[in-house]
Amino acid sequence: MTEFVFFGGKGGVGKTTVSSAYALNCVDAGLETLVVSTDPAHSTADVFDQEFGDEPQPVEGYDGLSALEIDPEREVQDHLQGLKRQLNAQLSATMVNEVDVQLEMAHQTPGAYEAALFDRFVDVMRSAEPYDRVVFDTSPTGSTLRLLALPELLENWIERLMDKRERSIDLYEKAAIGNQEPRRVMDGDPILARLRERKERFEFAGEVLRDEAAFYLVMNPDELSIRETERSLETLEDAALPVHGLVVNRLTPEPDSHEDGRGARYLRQRVATERDRLERIEDDLDAPVVATIETRIEEVRGSLLEDVAGELGFGIAAGAGEGASGD
Ligand SMILES: Nc1ncnc2c1ncn2[C@@H]1O[C@H](COP(=O)(O)OP(=O)(O)O)[C@@H](O)[C@H]1O
Ligand SMILES: [Mg+2]
Repeated sequence: MTEFVFFGGKGGVGKTTVSSAYALNCVDAGLETLVVSTDPAHSTADVFDQEFGDEPQPVEGYDGLSALEIDPEREVQDHLQGLKRQLNAQLSATMVNEVDVQLEMAHQTPGAYEAALFDRFVDVMRSAEPYDRVVFDTSPTGSTLRLLALPELLENWIERLMDKRERSIDLYEKAAIGNQEPRRVMDGDPILARLRERKERFEFAGEVLRDEAAFYLVMNPDELSIRETERSLETLEDAALPVHGLVVNRLTPEPDSHEDGRGARYLRQRVATERDRLERIEDDLDAPVVATIETRIEEVRGSLLEDVAGELGFGIAAGAGEGASGD
């Protein structure tokens, strides 16, 4: 069975680094692994020094590891084009222009980006069969998770839309063809089909996320990151999704004991502050700290990545998607 592992956290905390390192550990353990990256800026491509596309591609130098990159911007555009094509086929020319404007606007709302991204997540989940482990470098955002957390709400909502659609088709038929073959238009209706498909998609995603997925949050030892992580934990908990653990990245390394210059004193003070924060994270946050990673002098890639992977000793054994304890 394929297991899905999500790494969430604010931009820059180390999601890409941690998910790539985690993926290396999976491969080391003999798992056929796919990394799914969603951040066109610094991404899997930089870490592995290789370009990836929309489809899984083997990562050079690591047998059993593949990667793909989702570009949310392009997903939103594709989604928009698809809708327009569908509507063009159905509406009159004047209506098309008007609807186009509405669609463009709808696609500029913040949720559109997440929705398109999530759609691709679901595609990947559906075609994950060849892999033992699929590692998502970013977890679904709060709004998407809330939808999944409330399947009844979502179902009611889609059913209401379907109902409306059916009623309007009914009226249309009565007006246009006067009660003859009343099911004809309804059966072939692309909008109804689409609503039905969306409903199934969300049901599938909800099941997979609850039963076959594990969530980890990556954070830094600073106040902002702690607050942010607290909020994410709440969202995931509301969605009844299991957070397996926290990865605290970018801890300040301790200077050697004989060093006593200004730099060493500075580092020691930082280390002490971070130690307090780490204690607070362990005491106050509702998920265990499963790994801590020191800050490296340079960007994490190549052999440094393998080094970091050595600091991640969690979540490899099968059953990552069961219960909420690290292993
Ligand atoms: N422990 C670390 N030590 C040094 N550099 C790090 C460490 N973790 C991350 N980085 C660097 O910080 C930058 C942001 O990390 P990244 O993993 O891309 O974050 P995210 O994916 O959350 O935006 C990258 O340049 C990465 O190489
Ligand atoms: Mg990233």
